[in-house]
Amino acid sequence: MNAGQRFAGKSAIVTGGGSGIGRACALMLARGGARVGVFDVNDEAAKGVASEISQSGGSASPAQVDVADHRSIAAAVHDFSGQFGRLDIAVNNAGIGGDNSLMEEATVEFWDRTIAINLSGVYHAMRAEFAFMRVAGGAIVNMASILGEVGFPGAAPYVAAKHGVIGLTKSAALSWGQYGIRVTAVCPTFVRTPLTENLPAEGWSEIIAKHPLGRLPTPEEVAAMVCYLASDEARAVTGSAHLIDAGYAAS
Ligand SMILES: NC(=O)c1ccc[n+]([C@@H]2O[C@H](COP(=O)([O-])OP(=O)(O)OC[C@H]3O[C@@H](n4cnc5c(N)ncnc54)[C@H](O)[C@@H]3O)[C@@H](O)[C@H]2O)c1
Repeated sequence: MNAGQRFAGKSAIVTGGGSGIGRACALMLARGGARVGVFDVNDEAAKGVASEISQSGGSASPAQVDVADHRSIAAAVHDFSGQFGRLDIAVNNAGIGGDNSLMEEATVEFWDRTIAINLSGVYHAMRAEFAFMRVAGGAIVNMASILGEVGFPGAAPYVAAKHGVIGLTKSAALSWGQYGIRVTAVCPTFVRTPLTENLPAEGWSEIIAKHPLGRLPTPEEVAAMVCYLASDEARAVTGSAHLIDAGYAAS
């Protein structure tokens, strides 16, 4: 550990840390000196990212966690944070994508599953994290989406869950500011990850054309915003949702 690193001595959890944006967050936090709990329902993926971190000299421990199951996430947060008696940073990022079905055609099962992972999963994680953050304060960064700010046809459950994540973020910030806990949300536009890999090539050019910058953020660019919000540089920031959308929502 190098004392000059911005997360030196801190412990951090990343849910959905085994892939895409979560992986980029876990790697960046670890490069900054944090000990990272890489939580993912995909055990192999969590182990893979944790070993990537260890091999590059960082500190990480993987855990198989289903955020939709409150006992699973509570136990994992307890096991990881219990080692240090506190938790400094939590990135609640685990999520699944939409299924492109119109609201009137989508199944109730898909609605339930999306809400269980993308919204209740954040709620369960935050409640477990609070128990350790109240000791010495901390920073929670919730992964919302541009679709937490605007609607999108064919993604009603996803849009509803992400709007809910922003609501949870604001409510927790109001309650937990007194404990020195900051709670923020990040709202990326479309990012190329396994979550969006099913979009057809022509779909991507259409989507990119809706962005004034003519490009989309990379997982690393999203992670850079997450790390800023998780860092002491953002000590005056809480209760807010931060777009990283290449201008998508500006019109
Ligand atoms: N990719 C995008 O376009 C985009 C845009 C805005 C927001 N987001 C959000 O960013 C987050 C990460 O998405 P990504 O694009 O990196 O996707 P991804 O599929 O690459 O990674 C998501 C990770 O979450 C894990 N996961 C899924 N369900 C889980 C559960 N129940 N418990 C624990 N882990 C679980 C998966 O195994 C996977 O490793 C999601 O919340 C997503 O909604 C993504």
